[in-house]
Parts: sequence; structure tokens; C-alpha cells
Amino acid sequence: MRYFPAFMDLQGATVLLSGGGELALRKARLLLPSGARIVAFSASENSPLARELGGQVILRAGPLSDTAFAENPKLLVAATGDEAEDERAAKLGRAHGVPVNAVDMPHLCDVVIPSIVHRGDLVVGISTGGAAPVIGRRLRERLEQMLPARLGEVIRFGKERRGIVSEAIQGKGRRAFWERFYSGPAAEAVMAGDEARAESLFREELEGETPGHVHIVGAGPGDPELLTLKALRVCQEADVILHDNLVSDEILALCRRDAERIYVGKKRSDHAVPQAEIGALMVRLAREGKRVVRLKGGDPFIFGRGGEELEALQAEGISATVVPGISAALGCAANAEVPLTHRGLSQSVTFVTAEAGGGGAPDIDWASLAKLRGTIVVYMGVRRAGDVAGDLLKGGLDASTPVAVVADGTRDTERVIRADLATLGDAAAQISAPGLLIIGEVAAKAKGEDLLALASQRQAA
Ligand SMILES: C[S@@+](CC[C@H](N)C(=O)[O-])C[C@H]1O[C@@H](n2cnc3c(N)ncnc32)[C@H](O)[C@@H]1O
Repeated sequence: MRYFPAFMDLQGATVLLSGGGELALRKARLLLPSGARIVAFSASENSPLARELGGQVILRAGPLSDTAFAENPKLLVAATGDEAEDERAAKLGRAHGVPVNAVDMPHLCDVVIPSIVHRGDLVVGISTGGAAPVIGRRLRERLEQMLPARLGEVIRFGKERRGIVSEAIQGKGRRAFWERFYSGPAAEAVMAGDEARAESLFREELEGETPGHVHIVGAGPGDPELLTLKALRVCQEADVILHDNLVSDEILALCRRDAERIYVGKKRSDHAVPQAEIGALMVRLAREGKRVVRLKGGDPFIFGRGGEELEALQAEGISATVVPGISAALGCAANAEVPLTHRGLSQSVTFVTAEAGGGGAPDIDWASLAKLRGTIVVYMGVRRAGDVAGDLLKGGLDASTPVAVVADGTRDTERVIRADLATLGDAAAQISAPGLLIIGEVAAKAKGEDLLALASQRQAA
């Protein structure tokens, strides 16, 4: 380790920056959040630095000279991109005893400026000492994904309350309190931007209560890479995960390993736990102080009963948050290469379900839908595909309207079958997995198998 990491306090301090081009601009962007007073040399009013940050840095048109050091700078950054000029600037800096950073010239550097990830007061600097900048960049990308965007707010919230906590809790208990706080509901409320709720949850935690929290999380249509960063984070922090059959094993494998997992079913034929019991279970677990994740396929608020579950929790005063997921319509359409709206083909998209609670037909005005001439995406439509087609034909849609049936969308076992409205029932009969019907002109664009070709293959066999 040649370079020792030490963080410099630059608040209000002068930093000399030599250069006004792209290189200097990048360094200025990094330096500005520190509160440094940046004085830039060789930076004309037309330079990229002036154009983007003109109001935030002090611009001097001429090159760096001895007089600049009268400003008592704490750091000099040589970033003109001109080797000879940067070398000259670095020598000047050295002569005045000011630490130097020269971009891309490690032999001239007293200090290196690392890749930086920051969230408020949390700052992570990554350096490979110039040996492998690509590795440094990759690591930075990983950290950017891992650290919640509003983590800085949580740190600030905690910092502002350090005094109260120190007064209220002495000794070892204090550390345990902060451990709980940073992964508890008060921190979660800060991340959600609700500081009033965060304050009351914080007070409860301080009074020794351990309020639990429920995240109702959308796991997306199956491909684990379609999980949102937030969903991944809360799944990795959960004490208990309640999941149903639409959540793939690969996604469960990404959840915290020692979290308790409770399967609550939800196939048509397999209602492992009735809805009211799921609600009661979540309430009980949250009251035990657990961080509960209710993990649901797709998006919780699209035919996912997420609304009912949220209401059940709110009725019992349980703190709950909804984390959206990519709904099956979006995941399946993207994978099947069907744009749900497309200029000249479809100006609207409607999500409908083919099944009402209890397995009956829903109350849908199919004729009005047919009149829209847009895209219709039917959830839970495989079993009743023939009826759906009949209703839309009756409503005036043409029998030749393209359709696509997507089964197990975004998973390794995905199947896409293209057909038309007249043969939608036959296409749906080819599949057994959860499937989605996409109806409308855009469905002609679906990649996948063609129903007619499938039928002739079967005849030939
Ligand atoms: C109870 S709904 C849940 C929908 C979910 N909340 C969403 O936003 O995708 C279940 C239906 O969603 C559709 N579905 C869910 N995942 C799917 C997938 N990977 N491929 C095709 N359809 C899927 C099927 O129509 C299935 O019957």
C-alpha cells in the first residue's frame, strides 16, 4: 500500500486548479461537494469548466503563477492535460510546500484523488494507486448500487440525535440501539422521505419498544436481474420473508440466508394460507419487532392484492412500505420484444384480469376495450382465453387481430406463442405455466413460436 488514505478537510479551504478543460471540470465536480473554494487557472470564460461550473468556481484566465500561492491553498490539482504545463504547475506547488495532484501523472503526485462514492457524510474513496483504474471503477459502480441513495439522510438524522441517545442510554445498550436504528423502521422512514414518521418511530425505539416493519415487495416476473435495488436491499435485511409461488427460487436465493422463510402459497389450486391469515401473520411478526418482507410476484399493486395487505397492516397501526416491482406485462412484453405502445399501431395499453376473486368472470366492459383499438394485456387469462377472445370478437375486434401468449415470462422456461384472436384459446391451451395474453396489433411483433407452425409440426410428427 503506497498511498495512505487520509481524508482532507477542505471546507472553506482554497484549492488551486490548473486547467479549464474536461479534465479540470471532472476534478472540480469531485471537489465541489467538499465545500472547497476552487480557484481555476488557464480557465477562460468559454472553457468547459466555466460553462458548467462558472458560478461555483473562481476563474482566472492566465496560467498558474507564484502569486496564486498568496491565497494559502491547501491543495493544488494540475489538470490542464498538457504534460509540460502540469509539470511546471506541480513544481510550483512543491516549491510552495502545497500537496500536488497531477492528473494521470503519478510521478508528480503527492496525493492521489480516489474514485469517490458519497452519501452525505459517508465517503468511500477507492484507489488502486494507478495500477488498475478499471477495477477501481467497477468497485465504485458496485458500491453505488449497494448504498441506498438516501443513506446520507439517515446518517444525518442519526447524527442530529446522538446527544439524545447518549443521554437516554448508557453503556453497551447504546451501540445495540444504533445497530437496531440503522436497519429499523425509523431509518426506513427517513429513506422514504417521511421524517415525521421517522421521528415518532425513533422515539418508540428509544423508549425500548422494537417496532417491526413490513415491506410489501414486488419481486418482478421471475428473472432475478429484474429485481430493483431497493427490493434486493430489503430482502437482504429481512428477518422473515413471506413469499408465494410466483417468486422464483433464484430470487429467494438472493434474500438474507438466515431469514425465516414462510411459503404462503397462492396458486389457483393451492391457497396455502388464506388472505386474512397472511394479514394476521404479518401483523403478529411485525409486533414481535421483526423486519418482515412480503415478497410477491411482479408488482404488488397490479393484481397482487398488495392494496388489501397494506390496508390490513395500516388498520392495525403497523408501519409498512411498498416497494414496486416490474409487473409481468412489462417483463413479458420486453422479453418477447412487443412494444406495448407503438406509434401508428397502439396509443394505449390496458391491463385487465380474466378472473375475478373466486375464479369467476370479472366485470369488464370488453366492448369498450375493443373500441379503444389499443393493446390489451390480460393477466390470469390462460384458463379463460377462449372466453376472452369471444367477448372481444363480440365487442367488434377483428378475428385476425394479432395475439401473443407469454408463459413463464423472463424465466429460463419462457415460451411465447403468436396467434390471432380467432385462435387465442388454442394458443393458450399449449401452455400450463402462468401466462399472459397480449392482444392488439403490436403482438404481431412478438418473437417466438407461431401457432400455425406448431400445428403443422404436430401433424408431420
Ligand atoms: C395474481 S397475478 C399477479 C400479477 C403480479 N402482481 C404482476 O404484477 O405481475 C398472477 C398472474 O400474473 C401473470 N404472470 C405473473 N408472472 C408471470 C410470468 N413470469 N409470465 C407470464 N405471466 C405472468 C399471469 O397471468 C398470472 O396468472
